[in-house]
Amino acid sequence: MKEIISDNFSILFGSDGYLKLANFIQENNFKKILILTDENTKIHCLDLFFSNIKKTDKKIAEMISSISYNYSVEPGENAKNIKTSNHIWEFLTENGFKRNDLIINLGGGMVSDLGGFVASTYMRGIQFINIPTTLLGMVDASIGGKTGIDLKGIKNIIGTFQFAKLVLIDIEFLNSLSKKQIAAGYAEMIKHSLIDKNHEWEKISKINSLEDINPEMIYKSINIKVNIIESDPMESNIRKHLNFGHTLGHAIETYLLGFEREILHGEAIAIGLVLETYISYLKINFDLKITKEIKNYINQHYEIIEFSEESIRKIIDLLKYDKKNNNDEPMFVLLNNVGEMKINQPVEIELIKEAFKFYQN
Ligand SMILES: NC(=O)c1ccc[n+]([C@@H]2O[C@H](COP(=O)([O-])OP(=O)(O)OC[C@H]3O[C@@H](n4cnc5c(N)ncnc54)[C@H](O)[C@@H]3O)[C@@H](O)[C@H]2O)c1
Repeated sequence: MKEIISDNFSILFGSDGYLKLANFIQENNFKKILILTDENTKIHCLDLFFSNIKKTDKKIAEMISSISYNYSVEPGENAKNIKTSNHIWEFLTENGFKRNDLIINLGGGMVSDLGGFVASTYMRGIQFINIPTTLLGMVDASIGGKTGIDLKGIKNIIGTFQFAKLVLIDIEFLNSLSKKQIAAGYAEMIKHSLIDKNHEWEKISKINSLEDINPEMIYKSINIKVNIIESDPMESNIRKHLNFGHTLGHAIETYLLGFEREILHGEAIAIGLVLETYISYLKINFDLKITKEIKNYINQHYEIIEFSEESIRKIIDLLKYDKKNNNDEPMFVLLNNVGEMKINQPVEIELIKEAFKFYQN
């Protein structure tokens, strides 16, 4: 797959990507590298990373290994906070990391959000590379320069805009990932297909099994996100399209954080996509037939969650923390047509309640 080069970052693929990454490290003469993992990616991905670098250039691989430190955090969203950031900053200072050293985030979106945040604030910013090991990380979290941590249960409320210098996509990492996690990442691919003008939704909607997700589809999905980011890196206008499904998706995810019925980010986004498509139908006349198609497709691939009236009220209440709001009024990105979005759409609470009914019936 052809590498994607933009002004701010490059996305590399497969064995050619490892070679370019090895050369980048050698040319920049880094003295120290921190490889940030969580406990699962330390077990499943760290050796694979080194063995794949070794296959491309044994000497550089040995050099990288000799200057690398590994720091591993607990897996899961609960570790994406200021306390963990603090521990990593302390580790960096205790081990003498300087401004011209490097952090490699080897993990899913949790690791790249956290590691990107730590890197972008340590000594006013050091370079970092993302090597995503989840599908969600590959098509979404590792790309686009948003870093962040959670505070008091509010997701990504503290963070920076800082691009990873390089992103390396190696789908071999997905071999150890659970089906549930693959499905969660797939939700972002579904979202990309809906906001894309080039009929990706028609192709995605024909995929019946997660086993049929192929490298071409992943590449396409990454490109959809990259094209949007390139035209609007700071989210002034069209980058907001990427938030489709996320206004309610995030509120659902936040609401269920810490509950027994906690769900994955991507699973919450899948529900958000159904809700916000239906709101698009109610508010701006998005096609009802496609709305039903999207609901049926998502409900066929993801477990349907029952929300009581009280939980819906609490989810709606959480919308006040959404970063897209204008003076406390929740703002949505809605679908006019597949591939055609309307941003900054205020939505009445009654319509949100109706959308929950549509999702559950
Ligand atoms: N910055 C952005 O633009 C952006 C976009 C979307 C999501 N996010 C963030 O991404 C996070 C979610 O990312 P995620 O879905 O990748 O979750 P994650 O990073 O928590 O990983 C999911 C689970 O899979 C495990 N894992 C990761 N790779 C593995 C592998 N190859 N084999 C076996 N286990 C593996 C992890 O240890 C973890 O338990 C959230 O914090 C979300 O806010 C950020």
